[in-house]
Amino acid sequence: MRTMESFSFLLASLILMLSVLQANSQNYPQETKLFISCFSDYSRYSNFSVSEIIYTPQNPKSFNSILNLHIHNKRFKTQATSKPLAIITARSENHVHATVKCAKSNGIQVRIRSGGHDYEGLSYVSDVSYVVLDMFPLHKIDLDMESGTAWVQAGATLGELYYQIANKSNVLAFPAGVCSSLGTGGHFSGGGYGNLMRKYGLSVDNIIDAILVDANGILLDRKLMGEDLFWAIRGGGGASFGVIVAWKIKLVPVPPQVTVFRVKKSIKEDATDVAYQWQLVAPNLDKDLFIRVQPDVVNGTVIVSFIGQFLGPIERLLRLVNESFPELGLKQSDCTEMPWINSTLFWYDLPIGTPIEALLPTNQEPPSIYTKGKSDYVKKPIPKEALKSIWDLMIKYNNIWMQWNPYGGRMAEISPKATPFPHRAGNLFLIQYSVFWTEDGAEANNRYLNYSRSFYEFMTPYVSSFPREAFLNYRDIDIGAKNPSTSNNLVDSLKYASKLFKENVERLLIVKTRVDPSNFFSYEQSIPTQN
Ligand SMILES: Cc1cc2nc3c(=O)[nH]c(=O)nc-3n(C[C@H](O)[C@H](O)[C@H](O)COP(=O)(O)OP(=O)(O)OC[C@H]3O[C@@H](n4cnc5c(N)ncnc54)[C@H](O)[C@@H]3O)c2cc1C
Ligand SMILES: *[C@@H]1O[C@H](CO)[C@@H](O)[C@H](O)[C@H]1NC(C)=O
Ligand SMILES: *[C@@H]1O[C@H](CO)[C@@H](O)[C@H](O)[C@H]1NC(C)=O
Ligand SMILES: *[C@@H]1O[C@H](CO)[C@@H](O)[C@H](O)[C@H]1NC(C)=O
Ligand SMILES: *[C@@H]1O[C@H](CO)[C@@H](O)[C@H](O)[C@H]1NC(C)=O
Ligand SMILES: *[C@@H]1O[C@H](CO)[C@@H](O)[C@H](O)[C@H]1NC(C)=O
Ligand SMILES: *[C@@H]1O[C@H](CO)[C@@H](O)[C@H](O)[C@H]1NC(C)=O
Repeated sequence: MRTMESFSFLLASLILMLSVLQANSQNYPQETKLFISCFSDYSRYSNFSVSEIIYTPQNPKSFNSILNLHIHNKRFKTQATSKPLAIITARSENHVHATVKCAKSNGIQVRIRSGGHDYEGLSYVSDVSYVVLDMFPLHKIDLDMESGTAWVQAGATLGELYYQIANKSNVLAFPAGVCSSLGTGGHFSGGGYGNLMRKYGLSVDNIIDAILVDANGILLDRKLMGEDLFWAIRGGGGASFGVIVAWKIKLVPVPPQVTVFRVKKSIKEDATDVAYQWQLVAPNLDKDLFIRVQPDVVNGTVIVSFIGQFLGPIERLLRLVNESFPELGLKQSDCTEMPWINSTLFWYDLPIGTPIEALLPTNQEPPSIYTKGKSDYVKKPIPKEALKSIWDLMIKYNNIWMQWNPYGGRMAEISPKATPFPHRAGNLFLIQYSVFWTEDGAEANNRYLNYSRSFYEFMTPYVSSFPREAFLNYRDIDIGAKNPSTSNNLVDSLKYASKLFKENVERLLIVKTRVDPSNFFSYEQSIPTQN
């Protein structure tokens, strides 16, 4: 009786599902129809129905909620923003395989999205026919404490990774970024740095294997993909080469308690002198100490925050700072000792005592404002007089915010050719510029983009040149971009590629041409093929 009941329930559900699909399919554009029919063939044996996996604009409610779930920049959340034919929410490698196969056979572009934090929205916006391959449902993290390694799926966020590590150990960590909602798919494949960088390098310096689906839809691990491709995806941007399904990472040791501090100084006090001195000492400090500088406009003046993390106790930190950076005037009362996992919340600017569950993703649409990001590398200290003129311009524009992240330490020991990320020895610090606004409309958009560009122009004499280097993860199409539909132009591409990868461009071109000769994985700043 029970089996009969469940059988008829199943049958009824099946009929309902089919009729829903049927009803909608009548409205699908031809391209979508072909893609879905191909996808259905490939996922015949999947445990999920196609309607659970694929979202289309023909069902606007569910489509918009899935699309917006990983849009963080309001610039790409407007009516005018182009929309994909479909979003495929991958729940298994098979769905990745099917998406690549069916998009390729139907001449449709794929945009790959993990956390959706791309500053230019390149993981979900395109100007040709495209689908979004959304990786967020693939977020499993398998820790192996014996070997101190983990397999992390591309859709896992940094917050989930940190949380899972801390669940198993308070003396292991992973060097990666601050924002807990970043996806490991995009973040790691663009390098991935955070406040453990001076001790352990980038995320990519601590990745030991990966699973990728290539342009033929084939699933490859490190051994199968070979060392060239494995090299390329660790900093060269994954989306030029394939879809990263998972990374194998090596965890790094941290003490049971780390010390953090945040010291704020106004330029009306000694902020300029201290920021100047910071440039001389921060890249040469003990590797256990990372001090970020964050100049910000507050009430019409500039407040410079010195935010630090030390892999050790307060007394040792105070002794070290007193010896090498007394200008900071660090006091015991500025410092707090806490487990590494709590420090990830501190860096995210959450009050001390916030439960670590705050690291976990919610399934709510994230709040968004309009932002524009840029980056620069500094190789010689910026003179005090120049610092003053920089503060003046920040005050004039009012909405610019910067982060200066010190290099040196482990970063200077790793060869610039070890990974595609070339910015190693010789860099004092990385600047991130961020302009943000809340007003809607084209006028505001142009005005603030203009601020961002003018500020960048103003910084020219103080930063790297020939090439003016840039950091891939701080995506900025102003440094050069190609039209992905019409151009595989080497000259256009070399413009941005040389800034992002310097002398590694050639090897990236060779790998790209070998693994994706038809240039299936193409976007505004992808690596082109040589032909
Ligand atoms: C608030 C904030 C804080 C940040 N802090 C840091 C920081 O501390 N350190 C740092 O290094 N960066 C930082 N970033 C930049 C961040 O690392 C990049 O935006 C990164 O690309 C985000 O990855 P994602 O998966 O969230 O983004 P997505 O938008 O999903 O992807 C970014 C790029 O990677 C590609 N991609 C995504 N998933 C895959 C995949 N599975 N396979 C192949 N290609 C893929 C996309 O197609 C796109 O080209 C920050 C960004 C923000 C918005
Ligand atoms: C379907 O689910 C079962 C049980 O969880 C699992 O063993 C099987 O591998 C899954 N099949 C596919 C194609 O994912
Ligand atoms: C780890 O997670 C499990 C399952 O959620 C939980 O029961 C346990 O208390 C956690 N342990 C620590 C140390 O956080
Ligand atoms: C800015 O000025 C306002 C009004 O004078 C004051 O209430 C506020 O505390 C100031 N903010 C900061 C961060 O100093
Ligand atoms: C800092 O160093 C000076 C000498 O260099 C010493 O006199 C002073 O006591 C030290 N202060 C602390 C807090 O260690
Ligand atoms: C660290 O986080 C845990 C879990 O949320 C909390 O119980 C503890 O009080 C925190 N410690 C500090 C120093 O913030
Ligand atoms: C951009 O800024 C420049 C220089 O400040 C100015 O001349 C120009 O008019 C601005 N353009 C817009 C669209 O605001």
